[in-house]
Amino acid sequence: MSEAIQDDSVIQTPLQKVWEEIAEHGLEGCIAELDAYGYTVIPPDLATPDGLCERLLEAVLDVAESRNGIRPDLETGSTHKGFKGRFHALAGGKGDSPIGDLMQSLLFEGQVFEEALMNPVLLTMASYLCGYSVVLSSMGCFMKGPNVSTFALHSDTPLPSPLTPHALVCNLTYVLTEFNRENGSTAFVPGSHKWCRSPEGAETKVGDGGNPKAVAVECPAGSLLCWHGNTWHGAFNRTAPGLRVSIPVYMSRPYIRTQEGLVGEIPEEMLERNPPRFAILAQQGIAYGYKSQDDSVARGMRAFKYTKAYTDEQDALTIGVQSLYS
Ligand SMILES: [Fe+2]
Repeated sequence: MSEAIQDDSVIQTPLQKVWEEIAEHGLEGCIAELDAYGYTVIPPDLATPDGLCERLLEAVLDVAESRNGIRPDLETGSTHKGFKGRFHALAGGKGDSPIGDLMQSLLFEGQVFEEALMNPVLLTMASYLCGYSVVLSSMGCFMKGPNVSTFALHSDTPLPSPLTPHALVCNLTYVLTEFNRENGSTAFVPGSHKWCRSPEGAETKVGDGGNPKAVAVECPAGSLLCWHGNTWHGAFNRTAPGLRVSIPVYMSRPYIRTQEGLVGEIPEEMLERNPPRFAILAQQGIAYGYKSQDDSVARGMRAFKYTKAYTDEQDALTIGVQSLYS
């Protein structure tokens, strides 16, 4: 690190703060790859120590059993083979879902999901991409068995093109079973985050005769797959038996419309058992969305309470307090 960056007499900027976190967790190589390709894979020993992958996998299998009435068959994938669900229409009439079963709103399904959100490695990547005021947009689970439908390339930024060069959203996905092409892994177009637009027409197609620039990501269970919101991605279909299981933690800058509406919905005991940043991540620092003047005042005061607790704990100057209060 240069002397200028180390100079204690200079107020620490958010960039300096996040770089310290990147170095602390040994993520410098991943950051370089992320900047070059638009995505990176953080290996299991850094991303999911303390058995986090195994505990998350067990938890989502429990959720699936509870919601669907049958425990998923990880080995054969028979419970999800040719799964239709709500999203089979996305496949262009091929008849099954390109994403398998999407189970949403996991944050309320057990404390291991709170731990997954507060994972310091995940938060370092989210802070680097979307700032210290980043919020959770959604946490769900893709559970995909053998299928024929590929998932078309798209960007996760929920805006029309042209897109901003900096990330307005980012995706930090826990890979809970091995990813490779036969297992229906995520497809990426390396470097596409720099094009600042979403793919159109034929360039969205994945698989045989599809976009020749799309590559399958390969990584073991326990990895954390991270990408910039602009990066073109989709998924190959799964040809191998078994299940592809992942938890996308989709995050955004606080002024972007989130998928989950969590303002005022987080139980007090959940907020109390977590550090102040949890409340910010869980959207409790957002005042927008009021329904009347009285509601505006109430929401503003509530947001201020949680934002102040976060800035008091950190350092208001280093986390960009202006963007939090605005
Ligand atoms: Fe996506």
